[in-house]
Amino acid sequence: MVDVLLGLQWGDEGKGKIVDYLAPDYDVVARFQGGPNAGHTLNIDGRRIVLHTIPSGVFHDRPLNLIGNGVVIDPCEFKKEVDELTQTGIDLNKKLLISQKAHLILPTHRMLDSASEKSKGAGKIGSTLKGIGPAYMDKTGRNGIRVGDLFSDNFRNRYDQLKQKHLELLGSAPQDFDLQKMEEEFWQGIEVIRSFNCVRGEYFINTQLHQGKKVLAEGAQGSMLDIDFGTYPFVTSSNTITAAACTGLGIPPTSIREVIGIIKAYCTRVGGGPFPTELTDETGELMRKEGHEFGATTGRPRRCGWLDLVAVNYTIMLNGVTKIVITKADVLNVFEEVKVCSSYRTGHEDSHQIPFDINTASIIPQYEPLAGWKTNHSMKSADDLPGSLSDFVRFVAEKTKTAVSMISIGAGRDQLVVL
Ligand code: IMP
Ligand code: MG
Repeated sequence: MVDVLLGLQWGDEGKGKIVDYLAPDYDVVARFQGGPNAGHTLNIDGRRIVLHTIPSGVFHDRPLNLIGNGVVIDPCEFKKEVDELTQTGIDLNKKLLISQKAHLILPTHRMLDSASEKSKGAGKIGSTLKGIGPAYMDKTGRNGIRVGDLFSDNFRNRYDQLKQKHLELLGSAPQDFDLQKMEEEFWQGIEVIRSFNCVRGEYFINTQLHQGKKVLAEGAQGSMLDIDFGTYPFVTSSNTITAAACTGLGIPPTSIREVIGIIKAYCTRVGGGPFPTELTDETGELMRKEGHEFGATTGRPRRCGWLDLVAVNYTIMLNGVTKIVITKADVLNVFEEVKVCSSYRTGHEDSHQIPFDINTASIIPQYEPLAGWKTNHSMKSADDLPGSLSDFVRFVAEKTKTAVSMISIGAGRDQLVVL
């Protein structure tokens, strides 16, 4: 049986912390899409650790962790992450497996990403520039190199050919990159990947399922960044919705049980693109300050705004969400009143749907005001929640017709109230 956990907004909903909390209940935690554009922040014993490619189940004894075929892996970033985790005393070799069908990000993919953003000028996506888009382009263009290829004799040849192709596309090697240094790191990273158990991920995971084991599929980015259903072209390069867990791991749709959708009590977005409830005033500024809303991967300030239930209802529909987890409720402690967007006014109409032309339409979010709350770190059960926070939870559950199962009230592992 598989449960899927994913973000229902534009990423950074706090997935890492919730996966870390749930991981002891599972036999396998698996990443199924995205790559080091992701930044899953965990707070372990007062230390802040950011995971990019490695699943968030590695801090517990029970689960094995799988990097699925749908993920793109940058050997340089992967090595850095492995080194950091090894320093904290985690023996990854015992608990991390990598699908042979996962694609590799080459140093020249990062250069292409940068060139692509430059060519877009003012219309740039705000990519993390980790080479994600070009790596997925080579995958669908049938040029990609996969983890399983690392073990073949002609790997070096394949690498050189693809690199050459990229350099031709680029015209000349961009000056702002030290390709030689990037390649040194790349080959070191390749050795690190080789030292791990690289498996036929689809057989591994289905064998686990046949043995009655429990799998948690960990999404990255957010549903509003999905390549098909997000705010295209201001999206990432992979499908980020539940369906991607099937293609990104090789599991049948019928194996999926719960779909756990994570939302922040407000909303953020990093990079370009439409964001109807964005607050460009001091309220948004205060949210950014209170929520430490700076990108975990790039350090960029995140754009902040009120919770948008039009977007959340859209992504609940796309994902088949069975439970919602609300995170960062404590960040709104500073507000006497909080707002929630329940419809979009476009022209004279109120709509509950995301318009096709969301990038250009003039959308006036229609808000419902709710009383603010004050959380504290001793809250342990639903009975401890202030009445106004219970009202907020009830409001979200009613408007989404979906149960809220947990609410997070701080970065720490135990700052979580199960409802
Ligand atoms: P890319 O996937 O790095 O090319 O970035 C495309 C868009 O998705 C940019 O707006 C990024 O800021 C955004 N993005 C990518 N990964 C994440 C993530 O993990 N959290 C939040 N935003 C992301
Ligand atoms: Mg993040």
